[in-house]
Amino acid sequence: MDISALPRFPLATLPTLLDELPRLSQELGVRVMMKRDDLTGFALGGNKVRKLEFLVADALEKNCDVLVTGGGVQSNHVRTTAAAARKAGMDAVGVFFASPSGEVNGNLLLDEILGAQLIYAQADKHETELVIQRACDDLRAQGRNPYLIPVGGSTKLGVISYILAVQELLQQMLPQLNAQNISLDAVVITTGSCGTHAGVLAGMKMFGANVPVHGVTVSRPRAECLERVARLVQDTAQFLERDIVLDENDIIIHDAYIGEAYAKSTPAARAAIHRVARIEGIFLDPVYTGKAMAGLLDLVERQVFKQGSTILFWHTGGAPGIFGFPQDVV
Ligand SMILES: Cc1ncc(COP(=O)(O)O)c(C=O)c1O
Repeated sequence: MDISALPRFPLATLPTLLDELPRLSQELGVRVMMKRDDLTGFALGGNKVRKLEFLVADALEKNCDVLVTGGGVQSNHVRTTAAAARKAGMDAVGVFFASPSGEVNGNLLLDEILGAQLIYAQADKHETELVIQRACDDLRAQGRNPYLIPVGGSTKLGVISYILAVQELLQQMLPQLNAQNISLDAVVITTGSCGTHAGVLAGMKMFGANVPVHGVTVSRPRAECLERVARLVQDTAQFLERDIVLDENDIIIHDAYIGEAYAKSTPAARAAIHRVARIEGIFLDPVYTGKAMAGLLDLVERQVFKQGSTILFWHTGGAPGIFGFPQDVV
């Protein structure tokens, strides 16, 4: 399967910026670069916009008329899915693994503006996939043609969008690689439903860049992430009819930065959000990227990342979450 033959519904402003963080780099003694997927543009951006280009195109090919997905109440994925559905002339249903809190802010406010149908499943995260399926069954019974997107959009098509994002990154880095003034020692990324991590890892393998990908899990136990990333990479490789061989140490998951639970911020995430905002003017969020940056800072401190090395932080967006959890960031 040739990736360029896959249908794609253009949403993202690409390539996203590859930024230097000179002031943070100076403080840390490592060169910190940032891939600005918070600036994918569409509907306030973030990593899900890349995934949705392929998912929406697939939905349109199947003549679907409503996108159905789910997540936490402040899900960036539900927000961007609802917006993408609207742009493609479809409806959107978002299933939340929560009960209504009464507050309509952050991503939830944007979901309301987009007119998405919102269902509070009050199920746990794992049961949410079942509730999403049931919502699709109900829609079919009403004569609709729903397109089911699993929580987080982590499917083969979602993974493929991040294989292409790695190609984009490597092309951006090529001039620097030729000038031999850079070698990339590690990528740090937020790991949630695991599709972004799987895509970046698969992309590094496919394009022969031997760069370790450090995932900071923000929602799932480490063992579950290891299993999900491996499965997503293998399923995608099979679909693309490519050999992508992972060895045991290729999937790196750090689980020390989740804190109490998904969507509950931590003092380290809050400190990371303040630090990056106050010296670089860049916003991270309390649910995803703040925790991942807390991981990066700690890994530098513990010298897992050596002084003088070059680390790329993959900013996956999420800033609307700041307005959903103001108490976590002040
Ligand atoms: C801002 C942000 N970063 C990272 C992630 C994690 O991406 P994935 O679910 O592909 O692991 C998400 C998922 O919702 C997100 O919203």
